[in-house]
Amino acid sequence: MKRTNYCGLIDDRYLNQTITVMGWVHRRRDHGGVIFIDLRDREGLLQIVFDPDRPDSFATAEKLRGEYVVRVTGLVRRRPEGTINPNMTSGTIEVLAHDIMLLNPSLPPPFQLDDDNLSETVRLENRILDLRRAPMQHNLKLRHKTAMAARRYLDTHGFIDIETPMLYKSTPEGAREFLVPSRIHHGQFYALPQSPQLFKQMLMMAGFDRYYQIVKCFRDEDLRADRQPEFTQIDIETSFLDEHEIREIMEGLVRTMFKEALGVDLPNPFPILSYAEVMRDYGSDKPDLRVPLKFTELTDLMKTVEFKVFRSAADMPYGRVVALRVPGGAKLSRKEIDDYTTFIAIYGAKGLAYIKVNDVTQVNETGLQSPVVKFLPENVLREILQRTGAQNGDIIFFGADHEKVVNDAIGALRAKIGHQLGLAEKGWKPLWVVDFPMFEFNEDTKTWSARHHPFTAPKDGHEELFTVDPEKALAKAYDVVLNGWEIGGGSVRIYREEIQAKVFDAMKISKEDQERKFGFLLKVLQYGTPPHGGIAFGLDRILTLMTGAESIRDVIAFPKTQRGQDLLVEAPTPVTEQQLRDLHIRVRASDAIKT
Ligand code: AMO
Ligand code: AMP
Repeated sequence: MKRTNYCGLIDDRYLNQTITVMGWVHRRRDHGGVIFIDLRDREGLLQIVFDPDRPDSFATAEKLRGEYVVRVTGLVRRRPEGTINPNMTSGTIEVLAHDIMLLNPSLPPPFQLDDDNLSETVRLENRILDLRRAPMQHNLKLRHKTAMAARRYLDTHGFIDIETPMLYKSTPEGAREFLVPSRIHHGQFYALPQSPQLFKQMLMMAGFDRYYQIVKCFRDEDLRADRQPEFTQIDIETSFLDEHEIREIMEGLVRTMFKEALGVDLPNPFPILSYAEVMRDYGSDKPDLRVPLKFTELTDLMKTVEFKVFRSAADMPYGRVVALRVPGGAKLSRKEIDDYTTFIAIYGAKGLAYIKVNDVTQVNETGLQSPVVKFLPENVLREILQRTGAQNGDIIFFGADHEKVVNDAIGALRAKIGHQLGLAEKGWKPLWVVDFPMFEFNEDTKTWSARHHPFTAPKDGHEELFTVDPEKALAKAYDVVLNGWEIGGGSVRIYREEIQAKVFDAMKISKEDQERKFGFLLKVLQYGTPPHGGIAFGLDRILTLMTGAESIRDVIAFPKTQRGQDLLVEAPTPVTEQQLRDLHIRVRASDAIKT
C-alpha cells in the first residue's frame, strides 16, 4: 500500500475517499472504547479514529505511543458536530482507520514536542526531534521557498549559478578565518572562504557576465544574536552595470523573495539614504525605520554653554551632542529612565540627561522637569525646544560624548524606546544605505582599512582624496537594511589596476604583501577586466526577519551555539595523535597559549 496523501493536506474535498497516509504519532487519546491518534507529517496533523469493530487495527492502535511511525489506510469522514477544529486544515474531517501498520516504534521522546518552553540547549542536543516541531518545519520550508524564489528570479534575469572553492587561501584582512591544514604540503594551510568575493570578480573577468550562488561562508567571529560562524549568502555579481542598475535588479530580488515566500509587497522603490544622513538622523548605518524618532543635532549649540557634560563633548575632536525627543515620554518613571541609562551604558554612555516637557511655555524648572535644566541658559533651552519640536508630555533625552558613543548609545535607545512605547509602525521598512566611507581608521594599528573590502570602487573623483583626506573618500558601496537589520551589502568594484594599487597604498599594504596575497587578482586585472559590481544577501538573516524568529539559529537546520558548538553531533572535538601527525601539527598545551 503506497502513500496516497500527506496528513496535513486532507480536508473535506476528500470526504468519503479511502486514503493511505504515513507519519508520526503526535498524540494518542483513549476515549473509552474508541482510540484517536493525531498523525503528523511535514504538512500537519490528521485525526485518525480506531473503532473496536476492527479488532486487528484496534489492537495495534492500543500499542501506539508518541513518535511511533505508522502507515494508516482509512475512510475520510466528517467529524461529529462539536469536535470540529477550525485551526487545522484537516479540522473538519477525520479518518476512520481500516488498516494500520506499525513501521517503527520510538523511545519515549525526552520532551513533549508541543512544549513551547524548551531550553535552547535541550533543543539543540535533540535537534532531530526539535526539527519535527511545527515552527521548525515551517521555518525550513519557508527558507526553501525563499531560496527557490531567489533562484527563479536570478535565473530569469540571466544569472548563472557557478560554484567556487571552499578550500581557499588565507587572506587575513576581514574577520578571523577558519584554517584547514594541508596534509600534502607540510606546514601549509587552506582557509575556508569568508565569502566568494574574489572568485566572483574573477568570473566577471572570465566573461560570465552574471553570476550567483547560494553559498556557505565562514567567519570565525565572536558570535552575536544575528551571526553564525558558517552562514549562507545569496552571492551575486554582474558586469557592465553601474550602481543604480545593480541596485534596481537587487531590490527586485528582495521584493520577489518577500512576495513569493510571504505574500508581502515591499515598497517600490526602496528609499535611499546616504551614510551621512543615517548617521546624522539615527546614529546607525542600519536604522530601523519603523521607529519614527530622529536625532536633533545640538553640537554647535552646546559649544556655547558652561555645563561641562555637554560643553566638553561639543568641543572634543569627533565629539557630538544630540537630543532625542520621544513623544509622550514624560510619563516615564524614574525607574524606567534609570533602566534606559543602564542600557546605554553598554555602549559606553556615561549618563542620560533628560528633560520632561510639562509645559513648553514655561522655560524654567517648573515647566521643564530635569536634572540639567538648571545648568542651561534660557535661550539654549528655547533653542532645544524649538529644534526638537517639543510638545507638552514629551521627554527629550541627551547624548554627549565621542560621536561613536553617542551614535551607538542614543541609536540603540531610539530603537528600544520606540518599540517599548509602541511608537513603531507595523510592517516592513527596507532602505538602501549608500555612499559609505571608503576607509575606517583602526585605532590599534593606526592605519586605514577598507570599510567594505579593498576591492570596492571609490565614488568618481574620490581617488584623489586617498592621500589627502582618506576619511572623506566615499565608496560606491551600498547596504540593504530591513527593520534595523543589515540583510545585504555590496559595491561596484575596482576594475583598473592603478586604482586598486592606490587603495592598497592608502591602506599601507606593501607591494610585497599585495603580491603575496592578491597577486593572482592583480595579474588578471590587467587582461581586460570589465566594469563590474555585486552584492551578497544574508539568507539566514532574511529568514530570521521573515519568520519573526528569536534567533538566527531557528532558521538553520543544524546551527552552532553562541560558543560555536554543534550540540547534536558534538563538534568540535579533539582528534587522534595520528591524524595530527598526518597533518604535521602539534597541539600546544593550553597554558602555553595563555602566555
Ligand atoms: P558582507 O560581509 O556585508 O559582504 O556580507 C553580506 C551579508 O551577509 C550577512 N552576514 C552574516 N549573516 C550571518 N552570520 C554572519 N556571521 C554574517 N556575516 C555577514 C549579512 C551581510 O549583509 N563579499 C561581500 C559582498 C559583496 O561585496 O558582494 C560580503 O561578504 O546580511
Ligand atoms: P552629572 O553632572 O554627572 O551628575 O550629570 C548630570 C546629568 O547629565 C545626569 O542626568 C546624567 O545622567 C547626565 N549625563 C552625564 N553624562 C552624560 C553624557 N555623556 N551624555 C548625556 N547625559 C549625561
